[in-house]
Amino acid sequence: MSQLAGKLGIVFGVANKRSIAWAIAQAWHKAGAKLAFTYQGERLKENVEELAGTFGADTLLMPCDVTKDEDIARVFTEVGQKFGKLHLMLHSVAFAPKDALEGEFINTSREAFRVAHDVSAYSLIALARGAAPLMTEGGSIIGMTYYGSEKVVPHYNVMGVAKAALESSTRYLAYDLGPKKIRVNCISAGPVNTLAARGIAGFTDMLKHYEAHAPLKRNVLPDELGATGTFLASDGAGAITGQIIYVDCGYQIMGM
Ligand SMILES: NC(=O)c1ccc[n+]([C@@H]2O[C@H](COP(=O)([O-])OP(=O)(O)OC[C@H]3O[C@@H](n4cnc5c(N)ncnc54)[C@H](O)[C@@H]3O)[C@@H](O)[C@H]2O)c1
Repeated sequence: MSQLAGKLGIVFGVANKRSIAWAIAQAWHKAGAKLAFTYQGERLKENVEELAGTFGADTLLMPCDVTKDEDIARVFTEVGQKFGKLHLMLHSVAFAPKDALEGEFINTSREAFRVAHDVSAYSLIALARGAAPLMTEGGSIIGMTYYGSEKVVPHYNVMGVAKAALESSTRYLAYDLGPKKIRVNCISAGPVNTLAARGIAGFTDMLKHYEAHAPLKRNVLPDELGATGTFLASDGAGAITGQIIYVDCGYQIMGM
């Protein structure tokens, strides 16, 4: 399958082999795309270096803390120098302080609210602004979201509010970038056992709840997120923008 042959992409959000970003990156790579990666900081460098290295020793790898404008600027300057242009960008980044994902939502501090929105929602806008000038042949930008943006999922708390901001930003970005043939969409994934997910209190119960209540009676597999990411990145999704695509074994349609 070479659905993405000749496409150049950048992936934000690989922390380890369980990261959703890694599942999508593998699928993009298999479909023929050439990829650059970023990692959050020194702590994760080795992990990401090892994974990205499996795509070739010359794979472009750069540090990027998405809360730092200077990091973002440097990343897109380097990508411009190495690739000359860009077609794909994956935003698979989120964070909220742990205590905000444990107690009651009403106790969310101003600082936890600010951090969650800065890392998990504003960053999509900042990264899209960095990527767009390089997407001279059009492009596909994909963010990762979760159902807690629209319904109350106990403990998801401020992250749900940040995901609502991310989804709304997806629509506004799709409007701004549409004339440049750049599409912006989100994948709303069912629960997947990753580093970020384990920070949510009661996450294991969430997996069990989905298995019991989703129409398909199981949880989503990382490969299935990769396949959807590949579709959204491909020309086959050429008329799809500003959308939230649910890849959750059907859980989102349930009322009870
Ligand atoms: N795991 C799930 O159940 C699930 C479900 C739906 C959506 N999502 C979303 O998928 C995305 C990826 O999460 P994941 O589950 O793969 O977990 P993960 O921990 O593997 O990935 C989260 C990534 O965010 C990065 N990050 C956090 N703060 C950052 C910063 N300041 N600068 C740069 N990078 C930063 C981390 O380094 C990490 O790579 C997130 O947006 C998450 O909300 C996850």
